[in-house]
Amino acid sequence: MEVSVFENQETASLYVAQRIANRVLMNNSINEKTVLGLATGSTPIPMYEKLIELHRMGVSFKNTITYNLDEYYPIKHSSDQSYHSFMKEHFFDHVDIQLDNTFIPNGEIEETEVSTFCKDYEWSIRKNGGIDIQILGLGLNGHIGFNEPGSDKDSVTRKVELSDITRSAATKHFGDKKLVPKSAITMGIETILEAQEIIVMAWGKGKSKIVKECIEGAISKEVPGSLLQKHNNVKVVLDPEAASELNNDRISLVEAKLSKT
Ligand code: GLP
Repeated sequence: MEVSVFENQETASLYVAQRIANRVLMNNSINEKTVLGLATGSTPIPMYEKLIELHRMGVSFKNTITYNLDEYYPIKHSSDQSYHSFMKEHFFDHVDIQLDNTFIPNGEIEETEVSTFCKDYEWSIRKNGGIDIQILGLGLNGHIGFNEPGSDKDSVTRKVELSDITRSAATKHFGDKKLVPKSAITMGIETILEAQEIIVMAWGKGKSKIVKECIEGAISKEVPGSLLQKHNNVKVVLDPEAASELNNDRISLVEAKLSKT
């Protein structure tokens, strides 16, 4: 795993946004689609802000297809806490992406339809040629998407139960833990590992312990993020606080500047 530590989450997010934009621009220039795997949570918000800035500088997302990692289940798309609302608010409403090209697990379907939905989600990713760049944040317990500890490395898109720690962390968005859905639909570990390139971001002291476990710890399904060590093209992008528990020889400070190409 290639670890880069930036001065702060602002410059780190700029680096990630720039990397995505470069891929999009390259594909646009040869009339190819770009397929992005997208994440929610507070971590990627500054990256979406930078992508919106890059869009205003001329980067078009008309040829971009997106697959979100996960969604609560059950939840209405229109609910303030849904990842459908999150994506519109933080990205889709501000760029020229075609909403028909954006895919998010559906929290509104009937229980009996979930398994077919999940198979179709996997099939749809493959039909579009697989994910070029997958963006990830890390849960406090090392979850990626909503793959909680214990998730199998060959798991695919499916309905999962949320752990207590994840539901507690989500309480700040729902106001009351009782209102946090007990389940979610998430891409699996295998779905994530099939992406060509994976970029994991983490900010702040609160993530430093789990960052260390994912990068330097044993590969174990009890720490889902550690399974990323099995992939040959993972970039971990950190601020100094999130990197503070890593072995010093990993730490190299990187600078990032905004530019269109
Ligand atoms: C949720 C999302 C994850 C995300 C995690 C971390 O659980 N399903 O994809 O990585 O939150 O959230 P935050 O970025 O707010 O720390």
